[in-house]
Amino acid sequence: MRAMNDAIPTVRLRNPWRSNHPWIFQKLVDKPVSKPKPGSVVDIVGIDGDWIGRGFYNGHSRIALRILETDREVAIDAGWFARKIAAAVALRREVLQLDAISDAWRVVHSEGDGLSGLVVDRYGDLLVVEYFSAGMFRHREWIYDALRAQFPGCRFHAFADEHVQKQESFDFRGSEPAQPAIITEHGIRFRADPAGAHKTGFFADQRDNRQWLSQHVAGKRVLDLCCNTGGFGVYAAVRGAGEVVGIDIDEDVLAIARGNAKLNDARVKFIQADIFPWLRDAGQRGDAYDVVILDPAKMTRDREQVIPALKKYLDMNKLAMGVVKPGGLVATFSCTGLVSEDEFLGMLRRAAFYAGRTVQVLKVSGAGPDHPFLAQVPESRYLKAVFCRVLD
Ligand SMILES: C[S@@+](CC[C@H](N)C(=O)[O-])C[C@H]1O[C@@H](n2cnc3c(N)ncnc32)[C@H](O)[C@@H]1O
Repeated sequence: MRAMNDAIPTVRLRNPWRSNHPWIFQKLVDKPVSKPKPGSVVDIVGIDGDWIGRGFYNGHSRIALRILETDREVAIDAGWFARKIAAAVALRREVLQLDAISDAWRVVHSEGDGLSGLVVDRYGDLLVVEYFSAGMFRHREWIYDALRAQFPGCRFHAFADEHVQKQESFDFRGSEPAQPAIITEHGIRFRADPAGAHKTGFFADQRDNRQWLSQHVAGKRVLDLCCNTGGFGVYAAVRGAGEVVGIDIDEDVLAIARGNAKLNDARVKFIQADIFPWLRDAGQRGDAYDVVILDPAKMTRDREQVIPALKKYLDMNKLAMGVVKPGGLVATFSCTGLVSEDEFLGMLRRAAFYAGRTVQVLKVSGAGPDHPFLAQVPESRYLKAVFCRVLD
């Protein structure tokens, strides 16, 4: 296993480093004279020359090093990727038994699976690969081989966000757009379309939350705000809601949402609108619902913008509370990683205060267990979910 280890460059830290976080920032790293290409595998040594680990180096990125391996005897080669990806798949299949529930799950959740900068979602035979680091992009052929071994005959759709490509300094126009896949989750069918919808094409992270909420909707009036491709709304209709309205600002995802309702012979009224004016009008009309879902898009990835993001959450949650019947349920979410659960709950408290409603929190949760995060990398926990009842 040592073949590659002997050939790789060494990168030295300039300050003592005591942490088990996989990222080491640029200011801590001595620029190596050999200038390894962004995403190359290197050995990392401390200020006194002691070996720390092995991982990706990127001289252009703020995250200069991503530690992948801390056993000196283990090379990072095709076999390493094959073992790591096999372990991630085994977690989903053998431990979590996800095959019994769905054929749409996250196969790799970056640091949470020890693969910093790689996200893979699986929708039936379609594997959607998203790169967040130059290192993962650079080693993509090993990644595809490892995935093919786990999912024989699979198709790929691969991409990277433009801001990631800039930050990490790599160029990727994305693969040929793949045809969508039809997936089944808790017996409900959805079209997962990475080329036509947001992010990887379907939000598998909400699986358990959709299922939980759908058990409290029979005969009820349900409002799904920021409904995207119809996840919560379609579940509610299938599980016997009396009436379901879904709102999203994006007509393209609503077209998929309408198709998803049809796939399940479910009736949902989808409306293209910005939730802010729509909720103001609905509140003024006295329109009220038994169950309201509010799952807006990520607000920011900039630490400086957390306070404005919380203000936006406050405004929309306050408005959403204004259209809930007394005794009704609210499921409210935040997928902004920089907003902590405490901050989100604090926002909810203020929203209830300004809406003049008493909010009883029933359950706080997050993404499904196929989105694990390491205790030492709390920032990979992004989704916060709060289920509550509006008492009066
Ligand atoms: C995280 S997704 C919701 C996922 C959805 N709950 C599901 O299960 O698939 C967020 C959605 O919010 C929509 N959105 C963002 N801002 C909005 C606004 N002001 N009004 C309405 N929809 C909005 C986006 O178009 C996107 O589809």
